[in-house]
Amino acid sequence: MKFVRQNENTNRYVDNIFSVTNLAKKDPEGINATAGCLYDEEGKMLTYRCVQEAEKELTAAQKAAYASSPAGNKEYLDAISSFVLEEKVSNHYQTVASPGGTGALSMAFNLCLDEGDTILYPEIAWGNYKVMSEEFGYRILNYDVYDLEDLFHKIDSIEGKVFLVVNSPCHNPLGHSYTYDQWQKIIDKLNGLHKEAILVCDIAYIDYANGDPKKYFTLFNEISDDLLVLICASCSKAFSCYGYRLGCLIAINNDEEFLEHFANLASRYGRATWSNINNGGMQTVSKVLLEKRAEYEQELKEAKAMLKKRSDLFLKQAKECGLDLYDLSDGFFATVRVPDNALRDQIHQRLMDEHIYTIKVNKGIRVALCSVPLDKLDGLAEKLKEQI
Ligand SMILES: Cc1ncc(COP(=O)(O)O)c(C=O)c1O
Repeated sequence: MKFVRQNENTNRYVDNIFSVTNLAKKDPEGINATAGCLYDEEGKMLTYRCVQEAEKELTAAQKAAYASSPAGNKEYLDAISSFVLEEKVSNHYQTVASPGGTGALSMAFNLCLDEGDTILYPEIAWGNYKVMSEEFGYRILNYDVYDLEDLFHKIDSIEGKVFLVVNSPCHNPLGHSYTYDQWQKIIDKLNGLHKEAILVCDIAYIDYANGDPKKYFTLFNEISDDLLVLICASCSKAFSCYGYRLGCLIAINNDEEFLEHFANLASRYGRATWSNINNGGMQTVSKVLLEKRAEYEQELKEAKAMLKKRSDLFLKQAKECGLDLYDLSDGFFATVRVPDNALRDQIHQRLMDEHIYTIKVNKGIRVALCSVPLDKLDGLAEKLKEQI
């Protein structure tokens, strides 16, 4: 193609999610189970009052100003690091701000992988890993999240450095979360490789997980010198502020000096790509964490309870009608098992004909429990089962 880079991917880009979401928006009486955002019980996007109040307290100049550094404002970096890590990590780390979890992932990929390198991520996964891998020219290798032996076998099959993406807890789209013991096995495996390995922890939905979802972070205190852990965190979900484009990348390693170099590379990458991060967003989130923490915790608790009620109802009804779901523990989504992708396409279309909007994923159909109020969710499992 004229004008563009030689190896540019010229296939037509169709966003699987945004296109169906737009169709659903034109059908307000239908069931919109597409959006990966929290909606309240009135069917409106859920926003946290404390976040909105914090933003209102900013001056126009604060919102309009550039950030103080391409790596992010110091106050934000300190606040978000302690929010994400919850004092579980005593090993060395460095944090840089990013435009959403996506920006953190893109930074992790670009800083560690060369074109042609292998990236290992789940067979059923958030679609953007594939988009990014194809865009940046990586070789894709997939593993089954339910089968650690398969993951370890895939790790062993990689010749060069290992670059592993794990999306847990609250995997998108499966809702799967690894237990602490499973994490221990994953870390043991990576520690025992005796070659460079990078573990990318995509924790976009961790704030909606139940129990003690960050307990496994303590394992990062006992990593081998050859292991680099990159935590990619997203404020989009944590603070229900998707459009602010805010997140962070936290790099953890035994070598403090290496981490300083890495943060420097990340700063330059950021400067070259997005220049700097949304200043108003960083100021807002810092304010919430430093001045409105109790309100935030309370609102988050309410949102989690709302989500739990939905998943309890959906899972109960799915069981009653025999709807085959992939095993899930927590998070925004449930996925109906349809191993044949051609059949999945037909079912997905049939559902749309019945005004039920879902998202196609590899070997399944994703239902966004986060975006469907209880009254519309009631009976949805049976409607899905009928079409299948
Ligand atoms: C698994 C996963 N990771 C990361 C992200 C990044 O989100 P954002 O860039 O909005 O922070 C998403 C968003 O949907 C996601 O589903």
